[in-house]
Amino acid sequence: MGLLDGKVVFITGGGRGQGRAHAVVSAKEGADIVFIDTTQPFATVPYAHTTAEDMAETVRLVEEQDRRVLSIEADVRDQAALDDAVAQGLAQFGQIDCLVANAGIWTLGPVAEMTREQWQEMIDINLTGVWQSVKAVVPHMIERQSGSIVLTSSVNGLEGGAFYSHYAAAKFGVVGLMKSIALELGPQGIRANTVNPGTILSGMTDNQQGYDMMAGHAGGTRDDLLAAGRTFGVLKGSGFMPPEVIANAAVFLNSAMASNVTGITLPVDSGHLAMAGINMDPK
Ligand SMILES: NC(=O)c1ccc[n+]([C@@H]2O[C@H](COP(=O)([O-])OP(=O)(O)OC[C@H]3O[C@@H](n4cnc5c(N)ncnc54)[C@H](O)[C@@H]3O)[C@@H](O)[C@H]2O)c1
Repeated sequence: MGLLDGKVVFITGGGRGQGRAHAVVSAKEGADIVFIDTTQPFATVPYAHTTAEDMAETVRLVEEQDRRVLSIEADVRDQAALDDAVAQGLAQFGQIDCLVANAGIWTLGPVAEMTREQWQEMIDINLTGVWQSVKAVVPHMIERQSGSIVLTSSVNGLEGGAFYSHYAAAKFGVVGLMKSIALELGPQGIRANTVNPGTILSGMTDNQQGYDMMAGHAGGTRDDLLAAGRTFGVLKGSGFMPPEVIANAAVFLNSAMASNVTGITLPVDSGHLAMAGINMDPK
């Protein structure tokens, strides 16, 4: 008996990282999976993009769980592509019970030097793309008068982040979107919540941009990243967390165990937000 037996979960950004973990952990709990991702490079993102091989690996890992999976190349900035992916999912599996709107990017830039292109690509993907993903699945959920929506925000949807104001603005926006649709769609039997990850080891962070930011200078190393990650949490042994910790939280929110949970932000951050602030580099 799995927590998601008989359910179909639609995941954005399922090709790697947390999206892949959502697919595999949900499948382990009995769900069939529809996921979308893009294999195209982004204009402003300095780290490696997801590949067709990454998407194929997610498919393989879900099938290994004896669950059905549909993998679709689509960009969350393209409403028609999202609508088509939902239609394909419905044609194949007959229903979509849960949305995990996880797709996102992370770039850095001082607020005064950030380019319009950087700001706009961030908002287009990390905020507008989340709304468009919701828009694509909600008509079906309203028709069935049930559904669970999990939006991936961040601890930076609850606290600011120096040198990535565009990212924090988008992630705070995701929380506002979630709280609004929880109110609007609750009467239709649809729940909406956010997961708010702390530091997760994935393609988004395990790269030179992440190393440099955590080192505080160019030429940072993976060890700098991992060492800095240790200071983010309060739990013994905490540091950069595997993507599965977020997938576990989403399974809970999508399951009957959370049938009366809606409108909440759920940090999974090893206690990061519980800590009183300290200045690691006082001037
Ligand atoms: N890694 C962290 O420390 C961390 C912390 C807090 C929140 N998050 C959030 O978690 C989510 C997942 O990130 P991750 O850590 O797995 O990173 P990741 O880069 O490994 O995965 C993100 C996935 O989203 C996909 N994606 C990005 N833009 C897309 C678009 N326009 N259309 C379709 N797919 C798109 C990417 O191709 C990729 O497969 C993101 O929303 C991110 O902002 C990450």
